[in-house]
Amino acid sequence: MKKMKKAGFLLCLIMIGAFALTGCKSTEQKRIVRIGHNQSTNHPTHIGLTAFKDYINEHLGDKYVVEVYPNELLGSQTDMVQLTQTGAIDFCVASNAILETFSKNYEIFNLPYLFASTEAYHNAMDDTELTDEIFTTTKQAGFLAVTWLDAGTRNFYTLDKPIESPADLKGLKIRVQQSPTNIAMMKLLGGSATPMGFGEVYTALQSNIIDGAENNEMALTDNGHGDVCKYYSYDMHQMVPDILIGNLAFIEELSDEERAIFEEGYRILNETQRKEWVEAVAAAKEKAANEQKVQFIYPDQEQFKEACMPLHESVLTKNETLKPIYDKIQKYNEMYPSVVE
Ligand code: GCU
Repeated sequence: MKKMKKAGFLLCLIMIGAFALTGCKSTEQKRIVRIGHNQSTNHPTHIGLTAFKDYINEHLGDKYVVEVYPNELLGSQTDMVQLTQTGAIDFCVASNAILETFSKNYEIFNLPYLFASTEAYHNAMDDTELTDEIFTTTKQAGFLAVTWLDAGTRNFYTLDKPIESPADLKGLKIRVQQSPTNIAMMKLLGGSATPMGFGEVYTALQSNIIDGAENNEMALTDNGHGDVCKYYSYDMHQMVPDILIGNLAFIEELSDEERAIFEEGYRILNETQRKEWVEAVAAAKEKAANEQKVQFIYPDQEQFKEACMPLHESVLTKNETLKPIYDKIQKYNEMYPSVVE
């Protein structure tokens, strides 16, 4: 499977290189717009991107052909961000966690227990004045964030040990995303952080290289992690958005009219993905409980939260420009407080 992915990745790189040499035109002289992501074709993100593709192809089909590459076919998220930076591909979906290595400002949305509730999270992420301050900071790196996608709540799950409190994480090797904030978070919680790409996690669990991971419920079903991990604990440590990023030069070269159509496309993607997300998570939870026999645990979140809170201060002290954004998020937290007491 991994070999096939690597072969697919290499093939895609060769294709991308060939297209670059021919000025990115197909035989019909249309500009191919390539978008990569790391989810399956059942996933809300793929469904949303398909709606985006259909919209652009319908409205700008005489000039552009959008192609969506799922399943890490173009490489891991980090690979895809780099391909987007150089313009080898035009867009990709990356977790906010990954983007922190390209611009420190993204650290803010990786903070554990940043948002008090899903409503606070959604309202803050929909506030473009707030997000633009972060989303435009990768311009120097050659890409721009154009919309966010829901990736739910991240929780710990393990092969065979229920996590009721941070003490249960002690000595466990837990896969985290390749982000310094996530590594620091695991340290504070007492577990041993094992960073790796998403595509590597299933094999690492299956071969006991790691004891567990942390993610939303879709990872249990769509990525098969629930076939091997039997305990999923709702400690709700993070709500990390996924972000659609685009190559800066490509976006800037669009005419005003084209840009308006792309912007409507981003809106359609965001709306479709979020609607699909609600149903997909409910279905994943049901499948994990009934078919994969995953046990869902509802621990007291307070102990996890307390352990993680020092990270807020250390990130804000290191990067003072984040403070006003952090304060704006607190306003949403006051408006939409946690319902779990
Ligand atoms: C979620 C998220 C992905 C991310 C993955 C991960 O599935 O939507 O963008 O890559 O978690 O843990 O790496």
